[in-house]
Amino acid sequence: MNAFEPLLCVSHLVKRYEGAAGSPALTILDDVSLSVERGESVAIVGPSGSGKSTLLNLIGTLDAPTAGEILLDGRRIDLLAPAQSAALRCNRLGFIFQMHHLMPQCSALENVLIPTLAPGAPGRGGAAAQRARDLLGQVGLGARLHHKPGQLSGGECQRVAVVRALINEPDVILADEPTGSLDAASAEEVWSILSRLGRERDAALIVVTHSTSLAATMDRTLELRAGRLEDRAGRRPAQGAAR
Ligand SMILES: Nc1ncnc2c1ncn2[C@@H]1O[C@H](COP(=O)(O)OP(=O)(O)OP(=O)(O)O)[C@@H](O)[C@H]1O
Ligand SMILES: [Mg+2]
Repeated sequence: MNAFEPLLCVSHLVKRYEGAAGSPALTILDDVSLSVERGESVAIVGPSGSGKSTLLNLIGTLDAPTAGEILLDGRRIDLLAPAQSAALRCNRLGFIFQMHHLMPQCSALENVLIPTLAPGAPGRGGAAAQRARDLLGQVGLGARLHHKPGQLSGGECQRVAVVRALINEPDVILADEPTGSLDAASAEEVWSILSRLGRERDAALIVVTHSTSLAATMDRTLELRAGRLEDRAGRRPAQGAAR
């Protein structure tokens, strides 16, 4: 990578689904470009079905684009073999979904430590456990370390999910409606924790939300509509110049 390269560069991305049983193909993303710098926060908004989760899944290497490129630190990540993309997801990306997807039989602390057990994870053992305890303390769960998800509130589970996404110090945090299942007060709390922890770590934060008020707290808000990504002024953010 060079100093002028953005951390994440999405370039002319297309995602098309072939139609089933003779129905026409669906183009969900149509020439989407976006670049995100370290420490930057971006909200993605748009109507239901506009392709927000599809875009996040492509950036997160959970799905493959029909055309276009995705670069992290100047390297293609859309072409990685499954084992490489699994390692990338574990070590450089952090995911948070609408439903927390915590392991029900594991405590808050154990859930947070799961990503540290993956091959190539930056740290494990005592140091990781200490980091997990510190982070859970920072999100107000210091007294809930050994509670299982069933013994935690929805907002508390989502705070555990945020800590789990951050435990391996990812460069990019991808959050798909992370507060969508919470009441307004818990949503605001989880959102501010996510923004603060992301900023402190200089991570790029890309968050899908339906909430315009939460989106307004991010550095930029982009809207997906009819397969195109636009900023609030209706301009298309070109890669490398997506300000
Ligand atoms: N595997 C698939 N095969 C065919 N079509 C799909 C597939 N996955 C998603 N789609 C279609 O792609 C479109 C975009 O879906 P996506 O989940 O990205 O929307 P979204 O913007 O996240 O919506 P929401 O706000 O409701 O979560 C939808 O119309 C959906 O039906
Ligand atoms: Mg979605």
